[in-house]
Formats: sequence, C-alpha cells, structure tokens
Amino acid sequence: MSAEKPSILVTGGAGYIGSHTVLALKQAGYEVVILDNLVYGHRDLVEQVLQVELIEGDTSDRILLDNLFQTRHFAAVMHFSAYAYVGESVTDPAKYYRNNVLGTLTLLESMLTASIKNFVFSSTCATYGVPNFIPITEDHPQNPINPYGATKLMVERILTDFDVAYNFKSVRFRYFNAAGANPEGLLGEDHHPETHLIPLVLQTALGQREAINIFGTDYPTPDGTCIRDYIHVNDLADAHILGLEYLLNGGDSDVFNLGNGNGFSVREVIAAAEEVTGMVIKVEECDRRPGDPPALIGTSEKARKILNWQPQYPGIKDIVSHAWQWHQQRHK
Ligand SMILES: NC(=O)c1ccc[n+]([C@@H]2O[C@H](COP(=O)([O-])OP(=O)(O)OC[C@H]3O[C@@H](n4cnc5c(N)ncnc54)[C@H](O)[C@@H]3O)[C@@H](O)[C@H]2O)c1
Repeated sequence: MSAEKPSILVTGGAGYIGSHTVLALKQAGYEVVILDNLVYGHRDLVEQVLQVELIEGDTSDRILLDNLFQTRHFAAVMHFSAYAYVGESVTDPAKYYRNNVLGTLTLLESMLTASIKNFVFSSTCATYGVPNFIPITEDHPQNPINPYGATKLMVERILTDFDVAYNFKSVRFRYFNAAGANPEGLLGEDHHPETHLIPLVLQTALGQREAINIFGTDYPTPDGTCIRDYIHVNDLADAHILGLEYLLNGGDSDVFNLGNGNGFSVREVIAAAEEVTGMVIKVEECDRRPGDPPALIGTSEKARKILNWQPQYPGIKDIVSHAWQWHQQRHK
C-alpha cells in the first residue's frame, strides 16, 4: 500500500455501491473518509468491514462541509449519496429535488470554496427515459420519465456548467442495474425497503416473501418479460477507481455508461436464482407496470476504451451467487 495516495471523501459510503467502492479505494491504497447521514447506510459495515472514518452528517449541511474541507485535504469527492426510490420520487418529488439536487449543490459549492475540483458522480440510466434504441450509448437523448431521473439529469447539467465556469472536473457514471455483492461475502445489498429484482428473488428463496411478482409477461422480448442490464457492484467499484485516477491524472470531464452490455430477462434472473439456490422460487404473474420499457441495455464501450475498464463478473450466475452468499449470512 502506497502512503502517497491522497484522501478521498465518499458521500453515501455506508450504502450499497458506496461501501463496495470504499473497500476498493482502501485496497488501492487511498485514505477514505465517509460522509453519510445513515438514513439508509449501515454503520455496522463501516465499523466492522470498512474500518474507515465515518462522519455522520448530511450533504446539505454547509457548515459541516466547510469545516471539514478547511481542516482536511481531499483530492476528490465521490458522491454516491442520494435518494433512489423511483416510485417515491413520483409521490414525493420535493424530497428528491431537495436531497439529490439541493444537497448536491451545497456540496459542490463547499468544494468550490475549498478549491477541490475533482468529482465522481453516481448518475443513472434513468436519465435516458424510454430508449429510442438499444444498446444505449452516452449520446442517447436524456428524457427522464420520473423525478428521480430528473434530479440526476439536473446534477449532470450543473456539473457541465461548473466545468465551463469554474474548471470543475467531473466523471459522471450512468449506472444500469447495480447487483451482486462482494465475492468474499464481506458486503452486499441491504436496502429497506428493497425494490431491486435480485434481492427480492433471493428473499423469496429465503422464505421472507411469499412469491416474486413478474410485472408483465407479454412484452416483445424472447420470453415475454422485461430485460435489464445488471452490472456487478464490484465492477462498478473498479470503474470508480479508474474514473478517479483519470481525473487525478488531469483527465477532462466526461460521462460513461456502466453496464454489462448483456441484458437478462426477469425469467432468466429467476432461473439463475433457482440454479444457484437449488430451490424452486414461487412466481406471481402480474400486469405490466406503467413506464417500464421492455428492454434497457447500455453499452459501456466508452468506459472500456477511455478508462480501460474490464468488468470481471459479466455473467448473471456470478452476480446472483455472490448476492446469495451475502443474503444468507446477512439475514440468517
Ligand atoms: N443501486 C442501483 O442500481 C443504482 C443505479 C443507478 C444509480 N444509482 C445511484 O447510485 C448511488 C448509490 O446507490 P445505492 O444503491 O448504493 O444507494 P444506498 O441508498 O444504498 O446508498 C446511498 C447512501 O447515501 C446516504 N445518504 C442519502 N442522502 C444523504 C445525504 N443527504 N447526506 C449524506 N448521506 C446521504 C444513505 O444513508 C445511504 O447510505 C445513488 O446516488 C443512486 O441514485 C444506483
């Protein structure tokens, strides 16, 4: 481990993707400080697994941020913290605009005051809306169909303007569906409430749910169910290290999709889970949900070319089996 690597502030580092990235940063020799309000984050994982400093605080707390940046030097900020429940963003958009946009703007202004100008941002494929074509490239039009996606697009625009005006450099990562868990079983997904397909399927296998709902079986896809692009959380973490180093080496602001490039249907995910768990998973076929496109698949060729990103776990079986290992031990 090199002592020369700088300190990085990770907002939302007690959450799912943030925690995996903190571990990767630590393993790459970076000093890490987490800022997380613990609304959804897990203190036990920070203390027992990550073992880095945790500042329990909010990105909208300007005084806390100014004090932090005055007393500590950070070469960059990785910004994972946000609310990310699409349905709730429709029923309570104010909550989302306040946290995801105003909270981020407060953080960015505090960074500017402290002359910290490297920023890695968690954006989302939800900024694209219903795709005009697949696989989705970074230049696909961005027309989000829910407030959550809109908040992320707003931040992307803020970042573009900040670069022009203040020479503020950012890497914006548009993730597809983050999935899987640390392969050694140290970390994993533990959202409350849970809305993501793979953990819901595994909770069904563990008997914590009666059945897994399949929303729509008559889509124009080979088996009639929706196809999504699942990207292993460790591959996301690796991309963040590459994005950070790209910025620290003087790279210009840019945007990258982070996806698998291979879509998997709902039925394929359930079949993989049955194979991994050795159990029959009860399904309930339901009507389509409004706003669900048949297929969402991205291409990440740009991240591969420019950042030299090489995902290690593109197969759905690895993704599901790492998640299964985590769920069994977390919920035993
Ligand atoms: N999970 C996915 O599939 C996915 C896909 C695309 C984009 N994203 C984005 O990636 C990021 C991380 O997602 P995740 O699944 O790890 O979510 P998560 O909820 O597990 O983690 C977010 C963390 O941020 C913290 N947080 C929220 N608001 C905060 C605030 N104002 N101040 C300080 N901490 C705050 C929460 O306590 C939590 O620990 C989010 O920005 C999300 O929008 C996630």
